[in-house]
This record gives sequence, structure tokens and C-alpha cells, in this order.
Amino acid sequence: MPHDQAVIIRKFAVKDRTAVRQISCSTALMGDPSSAFFDDDEIFADALTLYFTDYEPESCFVGECDGRVVGYLIGAKDVKRMNKVTGQKIILYLLMKALRRGTLLSGRNWRFFFHVFLSAVKGELTAPSFSKDYPAALHINVMKGYRTDGVGSRLIDAYLNYLKAAGIAGVHFSTMSEGGSQFFKKKGFQLLFDGRRSYFKYFLGKDVLLHIYGMRLPLGCVPTAGVN
Ligand SMILES: CC(C)(COP(=O)(O)OP(=O)(O)OC[C@H]1O[C@@H](n2cnc3c(N)ncnc32)[C@H](O)[C@@H]1OP(=O)(O)O)[C@@H](O)C(=O)NCCC(=O)NCCS
Repeated sequence: MPHDQAVIIRKFAVKDRTAVRQISCSTALMGDPSSAFFDDDEIFADALTLYFTDYEPESCFVGECDGRVVGYLIGAKDVKRMNKVTGQKIILYLLMKALRRGTLLSGRNWRFFFHVFLSAVKGELTAPSFSKDYPAALHINVMKGYRTDGVGSRLIDAYLNYLKAAGIAGVHFSTMSEGGSQFFKKKGFQLLFDGRRSYFKYFLGKDVLLHIYGMRLPLGCVPTAGVN
């Protein structure tokens, strides 16, 4: 391991925003950087993290080692609220920002958008809604060099305790990461849906499966452990 200090799990603070955004881009492609298919980290980080860090920071956690953020779990207690804020505030903001920055002029980005569009035409982008029984969402990533050392487990535990204390009935999320899937199964999440996605085939050479995992949470439960 490149570190000799223990990793502390704590609530997200505004000062962590830049680190969370950087990690989101460096891990976006199933643990590898999004730069393989997308040219603008600023816009990509906005798309992945802006709702969580700016509209619901109280539901976010980080792992910190030696003063450095090495992993995060960014969450949303209510997916319906998240989708509403995204539709009303974030999409237009992102579009205007991308226009100003010239993000839409990049050939690499157009290739990606084109393949997502083809995927949509093929009907691949649909999935059942699980937000009634599993109202919360999460997005988790740990930096290379700090993985399989318990950081992800502790982030998940802290978030699940937070959700239970808030009386949230369940949580669901999607992942394309096969390693991530092994992790989520070990953490007790249940596979709810599998769907084939072809929009990375032009550079990965194969389709990938999008997995949706979920967990129902016992209501009225008082947490015994969480952030430390
Ligand atoms: C998936 C991820 C969040 C897990 O966090 P982590 O700190 O590495 O996981 P932990 O050390 O807490 O592991 C808990 C268990 O899951 C297993 N596990 C973790 N990552 C795994 C992987 N990639 N493949 C197989 N098993 C894995 C661990 O071996 C451990 O098993 P054990 O309890 O039998 O010892 C982290 O590895 C990561 O960010 N990976 C890259 C990006 C990614 O896949 N993100 C997923 C969301 S899209």
C-alpha cells in the first residue's frame, strides 16, 4: 500500500469537493479514467457528482488518509427529488457550460454521444424504476492503491446507518463494474436488474452489462456504528 496512515471515514465537507470530482473522473470507466472516451473532466465531474455535492452534501461521505481524500460515497435519500433537481436545474446548466467550454466541439465527445444515441435507438437505455421500494441512491469509488483494504465497506456501512437513522426504506444504484458487483454482493445487496449496453463497444470491443443492485432497510432501526 502507498500509505501508512489509517483511513478515516467522515462526512463530506465543501473542502472535499475538488478531490471527489477528481476521483469521479479517474474511476468512472469501471474503475479507470473517463478520459478514455470523454475529453472534458469538468463537465464529466459535474454530470457524475454535482447533484450530490451541491444539492445534497449531507448524504455524502469520504475516506481520508493522511489528509487526502482517497474514496467517496455520494448519496441521495430520494431519487425522485434527485431527478427533479437534475431536470430543473442541472441539465440546462450543464448544457450552457458545455457550450461555453467547447465541450461539444470535441470529436471524441461526439463519438461517445453518438454511440449513446445509437444505444437509445436500440432501446437499451430503459430499465425498471425501483425508486418506490428503494428510494435512495448511491455512487461509490475508491482510488487505485486504496482498494480492497476495507474503505469501500466502511463507506457503505456509514451510509446505510445514515439512511436507517433517517427512516429510508431502501437504496438502489447501477454499476457496470464486474469487480464492483462482487463487492456489492459481499455487502449484501441484491441484484434487481441486468441490461446489456453497447455504447462502449467502439473502444472496449464488447458490450457491457449494467447491473442494478438494491437493499431494503429495516425501518425504526437506531444505528450503532457509522462514521469514525
Ligand atoms: C468497488 C469498490 C468501491 C470497493 O471498495 P474497496 O475498498 O475496494 O472494498 P473492500 O476492501 O471494502 O472489500 C469488501 C469485500 O469486497 C471484495 N471486493 C472489493 N473489490 C472487489 C473486486 N474488484 N473484485 C472482487 N472482490 C472485491 C473484497 O475482496 C472484500 O471481500 P472480503 O470481505 O471477502 O475480504 C472499490 O474497489 C472501487 O472503487 N473500485 C473501482 C470502481 C468501482 O468498481 N466502483 C463501483 C461502483 S460503480
